[in-house]
Amino acid sequence: SALGASSFGAALLPAGQTAQLVRSRVRLPEPFTTALTVPPPARLVGPDHYEVVQRHAVVEILPGLRTPVLTYDGTFPGPTVTSRRGRTTTVTHRHELDVPTVVHLHGGHTPASSDGFPTEAARATRDYVYPCDQPAATLWYHDHRMDFTAPQVYRGLAGFHLVHDDEEDALPLPRGDRDVPLMVTDRAFAEDGSLLYPARGDGLTGEYRAGVLGDVVLVNGKPWPVMEVDAARYRLRLLNASNARHYLLTGLPFTQIGSDGGLLERPVTHAELPIAPGERFDVVVDFSGLAPGAEVTVRNGLGTGSTALVLRFRVTRRVRDDSAVPAVLTRYDRPDPATAVRTRDWRFSRGHHGHGHAWLVNGRPFDPHRADATIRLGELEVWRISTDLHHPVHVHLDPVHVLSRRGGLGPTDVGRKDTVALGPADHVELAVRFTDHVGRFLLHCHALEHEDMAMMAAYDTHA
Ligand code: C2O
Ligand code: CU
Repeated sequence: SALGASSFGAALLPAGQTAQLVRSRVRLPEPFTTALTVPPPARLVGPDHYEVVQRHAVVEILPGLRTPVLTYDGTFPGPTVTSRRGRTTTVTHRHELDVPTVVHLHGGHTPASSDGFPTEAARATRDYVYPCDQPAATLWYHDHRMDFTAPQVYRGLAGFHLVHDDEEDALPLPRGDRDVPLMVTDRAFAEDGSLLYPARGDGLTGEYRAGVLGDVVLVNGKPWPVMEVDAARYRLRLLNASNARHYLLTGLPFTQIGSDGGLLERPVTHAELPIAPGERFDVVVDFSGLAPGAEVTVRNGLGTGSTALVLRFRVTRRVRDDSAVPAVLTRYDRPDPATAVRTRDWRFSRGHHGHGHAWLVNGRPFDPHRADATIRLGELEVWRISTDLHHPVHVHLDPVHVLSRRGGLGPTDVGRKDTVALGPADHVELAVRFTDHVGRFLLHCHALEHEDMAMMAAYDTHA
């Protein structure tokens, strides 16, 4: 097909995308010619109360072309919401789109009533109430509509939500203009600049829906942008908001200070940083040794051609920089698996379902009316997760700790995680403990096409 054949053979290549590539039908811009932008702050309408209008907009992503998108407040990425730990934030989402939507705060310790259950998608204005009783962290919000999360996020419905707290404020980390959220996504474009996304039924092998990959890498909605930087340390809040693409970022040492759920206890420096769909890495990068004019290119070691490039930094001036990365960033309780009350298995794999095939969890497609597990709040469980192919597994409500991984823990398994990348025939053990909120929550693959094709499970928490 014109969209390029999908292939699960390709899925098993070392580059490792369980996905299909969609090629743009427009001449791609020269990399590193567009300036990076940072999403605007969300609009406050009262203390700790934001309003976001979900509306159609036309934005310029590729220079000189107009791209119709679904937006939060007219921009892609959407505006950045900020919360203080423990201060309840309300976000009123006004709905002006032609499709039903529901918002999920990814990484939020959020009651079920505001967690954005997929079947709650509606064409309606809604208040989401976020207690944000959780450590400082880089969260993000995105659409979670049943069966349509992938196309709706692809078309623009994603933004940052940052939680700050006093503990983090007391650290000498880079801040202000040197604390920058970076949302990495891949997209493909039609001749007229509109986003190209395969229609349902395209690109299926049997009835499996592969993940969709674009050939243009966007950072904060700009193709292969250039970010002008001072010769200083920067904190980058990296988010992979791509539907299905994994990246291996290279180009400079990344000193990781935080993972999905907040600060690490101690920084860890990575020469290359793998980042799966849904994951965040808070890193500090240091340009202080570079002269004005120097350039640093961040590449994607899993990409080829246009998808092997991500963004470029250009050093503009020497400055005084008082920031530092302390040897100890925080302390948190590490769950002791010896005290776990139960072990639970979750298998993420393709399988037969009815007359066709689907992406399944424990052999079953998602049923929003069924609880696949019932879990008492406060009890520690060990979850054994296994996969057939690449599946980034996301757990709602509370962060998890990676206890073990087939072949040994990886350098990015540290910290409090809510999205854990698994490769083909992989196996991890997670320490999982839910707290505070009673209701139905989700566990799913964050390759959004897999999620939409039923690779999701629900668990009920109870007191
Ligand atoms: Cu980022 Cu249930 O999703
Ligand atoms: Cu998957």
